[in-house]
Amino acid sequence: MTGRKVVVLTGAGISAESGVPTFRDSDGLWEGHRAEDVATPEAFEHQPSVVQGFYDARRAALAHVEPNPAHLALARLEEALGDDLLVVTQNVDDLHERAGSTRVVHMHGELLSALCVGCRRRSRWAGDLSDHPPCPRCGSAELRPDIVWFGEVPYAMDRIIEALHRCDLFVSIGTSGAVYPAAGFVQSAVTAGAHTLELNLLPSEGSHLFEESRLGPAGVLVPAWVSEWLDGAR
Ligand code: APR
Repeated sequence: MTGRKVVVLTGAGISAESGVPTFRDSDGLWEGHRAEDVATPEAFEHQPSVVQGFYDARRAALAHVEPNPAHLALARLEEALGDDLLVVTQNVDDLHERAGSTRVVHMHGELLSALCVGCRRRSRWAGDLSDHPPCPRCGSAELRPDIVWFGEVPYAMDRIIEALHRCDLFVSIGTSGAVYPAAGFVQSAVTAGAHTLELNLLPSEGSHLFEESRLGPAGVLVPAWVSEWLDGAR
């Protein structure tokens, strides 16, 4: 159904079937690390080589994963809806883009980007950062992963909030609803009068806030929902 504005929020669960580990599903550890040991500005200050090594490994691992049917279905949805769809992802992988999506906001940053601590500019980055390469913009050797760590402000919040205020449908896919501000987006969508739908393997922490919740793997649920939406079922 076109002409209606859709905001899709994605989390680690949409990339799980591609082989990218989620954060909170197994033992609370994130690839063997506690989040606060690698995903805070303090960790970077005290143990820069551990943090750089962790993100270098995750960046390199992107070469071994592919988009799954859920990413591909969202790209199909964008083909039909154009600017009426915005995908807001908490994920730092590039699987939405590789599936063909272009209207994607990476609110928690991107592995394939480096942020210069010196000039604060962002540069596309595919290699390692552990060996202190110079910033392509200012030349200083102070590049860090372009990841929004705990305690930092997510990217593009103005654009996201505006889209939430104008949306007719909000769909949350593969996120535990444990991390704000993303966990609060459903409430903004409800306030805007949007229909709200959750597609997740297990009920998220904010599951009760959604009008509708479908449980199962994203690789099955998302293509089915996209087909249904495009057929005008909702
Ligand atoms: N299909 C659908 N959902 C799935 C699948 C799957 N195949 N596998 C797991 N899930 C669901 C889980 O049930 C869980 O609710 O995905 C969710 C993953 O939750 P988290 O690991 O907490 O990931 P996410 O919500 O993206 O984390 C948010 O926390 O650490 C920070 O910045 C990091 O962006 C991340 C944020």
